[in-house]
Amino acid sequence: TADDPETLRRIAVEVARDAGRLVARRRPEVFGPRGAAADAVQSKSTRTDPVTVVDTEAEHRVRELLRTYRPDDDVLGEEGGGAVRAPSGVRWVVDPIDGTVNFLYGLPAYAVSVAAQVNGTSVAGAVEDVVGRRTYAAARGGGAWVSEDGGDWVRLSVTDVDDVSMALVATGFGYGAARRRRQGEVVSGLLPRVRDLRRVGSAALDLCMVAAGQVDAHFEHGLSPWDWAAGALVAAEAGAVVRTPSPHSRSSDGEVTVAASPGVAAAFSALLDELGALDPIAED
Ligand code: IPD
Repeated sequence: TADDPETLRRIAVEVARDAGRLVARRRPEVFGPRGAAADAVQSKSTRTDPVTVVDTEAEHRVRELLRTYRPDDDVLGEEGGGAVRAPSGVRWVVDPIDGTVNFLYGLPAYAVSVAAQVNGTSVAGAVEDVVGRRTYAAARGGGAWVSEDGGDWVRLSVTDVDDVSMALVATGFGYGAARRRRQGEVVSGLLPRVRDLRRVGSAALDLCMVAAGQVDAHFEHGLSPWDWAAGALVAAEAGAVVRTPSPHSRSSDGEVTVAASPGVAAAFSALLDELGALDPIAED
């Protein structure tokens, strides 16, 4: 049917790749080889939370394409305000640039994230690694896949690590000061107990890195739905044990997102619990 996960996945891939090409083309046009044009950047939740003209353009493009392919669906985008209840029951959850700070500085880790959700659960999604020219995609029940440079799809699977003290863990930090202070405390407890930590700067890519076996686990407090909606499905379909915020939580509720290879998932959760990291860290 028109709403089956495979069909939605194909649309997610098409849309994420198209927006990814726009983001890749516009970065040198707007920012040049380095440095940021001040008038192309504004702040959002805090002074250090940026949004650029390219985020806005890319979201516009995604909305335009989705309107063409799926006129009866709802779209919730990071830069686009609220969502309405659509007749189809499908809601697209879109981050036009996940990793905007990396984008701004020209660090090569930012992505377009496009997911289709039904009742707050992701059924299909794609994450386009813009600089790496890699598309990650999944449909519920259909496995997780990656395609390099538009080439053949290769199936992804998580690592078989079985000792949490050997786990490479990716994490990220929100923009608010209070949350960061608590996230720093959690990290200081975690760092001596795992192999090492990575802070790549794009939660969508962190989750795809779990799927691809490039890290063993990821966790972060206070992600918004557009940060995790596609990546969490990719990780789960690659075999990760995944926990996402409840469907109606807001990023300000500070719920935790966790994805881990199955051999360390229970021990990693226990460790996060011991460090108080499974509880929400809300902004004050
Ligand atoms: C951010 C990235 C980052 C994470 C932040 C997110 P944005 O998304 O995913 O890795 O640590 O919490 O807000 O703002 O670049 O779309």
